[in-house]
Amino acid sequence: MFDFSPRADAPKSEIHRDLREAALAITAGESDAVANMANVAALIWQFLPDLNWAGFYRAIGDELVLGPFVGKPACIRIPFGRGVCGTAAATGQTQLVPDVHAFPGHIACDGASASELVVPVVADARVVAVIDLDSPTPARFDEEDAAGIEALAAAIAAAIAG
Ligand code: SME
Repeated sequence: MFDFSPRADAPKSEIHRDLREAALAITAGESDAVANMANVAALIWQFLPDLNWAGFYRAIGDELVLGPFVGKPACIRIPFGRGVCGTAAATGQTQLVPDVHAFPGHIACDGASASELVVPVVADARVVAVIDLDSPTPARFDEEDAAGIEALAAAIAAAIAG
């Protein structure tokens, strides 16, 4: 059993640091990418408040394919360049979207989503996946969340590259 204890009242930077350390601990010594993505999705859900979806899309060929996540069932395949996730994968740039309804081509998987943060995971100079976080609260994510999830993505890249 893994019993990590997120501190809800801690400063955001500390929550992200604790999340990253938990993710490193839980993936250490495990080579199965799916198992690692599943546990990291569960940790994100446990550590970060006010989410309605948290998980991975994997880069396979020229599209993203749904990976392990917590939340409602989601669209399975997203071409590179489409929606928030496809834009992150195609550009290699984090997408911080305060209002998903204002994002051209946003793909509404869960009607409850109001804001979104998508961070590419890069291994061997290639986008291998994206981490996608959705929230029912407009502008839920800020630059500190983006930096925190970018650091998480860098920390676990090798463990989920498969
Ligand atoms: N909204 C995303 C699609 C994935 S779901 O949010 C889980 C997008 O526009 O890429």
